[in-house]
Amino acid sequence: MDSSDRHATVVTKTRYGRIAPIYDFLEAIPELRYRSWREHFWRKVAGTLDAGDLLLEVGVGTGKNIPFWPEGVAVTAIDLTPGMVKRAHRRARKLGVSADILEGDVQDLKYADNHFDAATATFVFCSVPDPMRGLRELARVVKPTGHIVLMEHVRSPNPVLGKLMDVLNPIIRSLMGPNINRNTVANVNSAGLDVVEVENLDRGGIFKIIHAQNL
Ligand SMILES: C[S@@+](CC[C@H](N)C(=O)[O-])C[C@H]1O[C@@H](n2cnc3c(N)ncnc32)[C@H](O)[C@@H]1O
Repeated sequence: MDSSDRHATVVTKTRYGRIAPIYDFLEAIPELRYRSWREHFWRKVAGTLDAGDLLLEVGVGTGKNIPFWPEGVAVTAIDLTPGMVKRAHRRARKLGVSADILEGDVQDLKYADNHFDAATATFVFCSVPDPMRGLRELARVVKPTGHIVLMEHVRSPNPVLGKLMDVLNPIIRSLMGPNINRNTVANVNSAGLDVVEVENLDRGGIFKIIHAQNL
């Protein structure tokens, strides 16, 4: 990672560190919509896994996905931001779920090649400073034919709304952390993963489940 990538990563970590204590409060209203999407997303993920499989969740945040983690699967969950990891730990403890929840950077994973059976992330690749590097890391640590399933918001396909997202992006990024104008489906393809399905969750084509395989 060069020094500008390292700097961007520190900035991202600082932003999420700042909002970690109020993240669940800030997301309370959108979460009313996301909750059923999470249920649907995790049903899809569960369909790709067998008992005993090793699953990596990157950008676990405060652990909103923990209630949906499939049973019988060994989950490792990482996040760049210590304040998020602390909250995810707390949620896992409350729910009686055991998992490895650790600080880690998807751009520089500390796992051997082909270690995991599958990897997931929800609303993360909008924030990763170098998303291509992060996606290539997932391709490296997931076994050949393993599944990588993401739920992401992306730049609108509507040209006017897409342009507006480009204009607003620096403001949203500096206040909250995420980029609202990423082309994550194209990024997944460019990272060498095979996109097997893209499911639109909203009518505007902004929220998507991107199901890829390491072929
Ligand atoms: C918008 S939040 C989403 C959190 C959670 N996945 C959810 O669905 O609520 C984005 C998360 O990605 C994490 N993140 C950003 N860049 C990361 C990186 N390079 N590696 C791991 N986590 C990262 C942030 O710390 C933050 O917790």
